[in-house]
Amino acid sequence: MTSFPTVAAPEGRQNQPGTNQSVTTWNMDPVIELKELRKAFGAFKVLDGVTCRIPRGGVTALMGPSGTGKSVSLRHIVGLLMPDAGDIVVDGKSVPRLREKEILELRRSIGMLFQDGALFSSMNLYDNVAFPLRQHTKQSEGQIRETVIARLSEVGLAGAEKRMPNELSGGMRKRAGFARALVMEPKILLVDEPDSGLDPVRTTLLCDLIKEIATKYQATVVVVTHNVVAVQRMADYVGILYKGKMRHFGTREEIERSPDEFVHQFFTADSEGPLGMD
Ligand SMILES: Nc1ncnc2c1ncn2[C@@H]1O[C@H](COP(=O)(O)OP(=O)(O)OP(=O)(O)O)[C@@H](O)[C@H]1O
Ligand SMILES: [Mg+2]
Repeated sequence: MTSFPTVAAPEGRQNQPGTNQSVTTWNMDPVIELKELRKAFGAFKVLDGVTCRIPRGGVTALMGPSGTGKSVSLRHIVGLLMPDAGDIVVDGKSVPRLREKEILELRRSIGMLFQDGALFSSMNLYDNVAFPLRQHTKQSEGQIRETVIARLSEVGLAGAEKRMPNELSGGMRKRAGFARALVMEPKILLVDEPDSGLDPVRTTLLCDLIKEIATKYQATVVVVTHNVVAVQRMADYVGILYKGKMRHFGTREEIERSPDEFVHQFFTADSEGPLGMD
């Protein structure tokens, strides 16, 4: 096994008792709380008691091996999946206890960018981005136009309004999905693997854009990613899911300096360590 330095946890880096989250981040104002969240599909337990508090503001990266339930966790936050047990609290409200109308309101207030960008294939780029505004607001077409053009130029897609999704590259589709997730000016933005399928330069640009958006809109952004370089570039906080539990949650610095061999292996992409292909 690869050896790595074991360092004593410095002052203030202890975990909140009963959790794997650092006290520093646990005590921040949480915008999203997962409490002992459990979810199984048939006999297959995906989330086996996930507990964490995602601090308000800034970028939280949610990491973990493929199939550990990162996307499933995001779906619980917007009420697209309901837990078998435990709770999800967004802005102080328990999502499983919301009525259907309140869940729809919640979804309007949260921007969500799915793993594949999820554009409507029959609509051009302009109509895709305008869709939430036409659906959920009473804004005039003139006002909508102003917002759509502004968001598209923020993500570097000005001039591409008339293109259909199949005429866009993978990276353009991601950025278009991002523009659409932003038009309602959400205070919470959930982004599932924005960097998959992007070249390194575009990944860097997208990370900078995510960071910029979090600052500009004073939004909380939760980004699922496998990309350690992207995490180093944009994340303020990092949560690592593993085998149905939150294995670690802390500031990026706390995670990077963690003496835990699993975290070390994850961050260095080392083939040696506790993490295998199982
Ligand atoms: N609706 C569903 N019905 C049955 N199984 C599901 C469903 N959604 C997810 N799963 C299973 O739950 C597990 C976790 O899925 P999830 O999509 O959350 O993984 P992930 O951590 O996002 O992985 P990746 O990094 O590959 O995207 C997977 O084994 C998946 O097959
Ligand atoms: Mg996923």
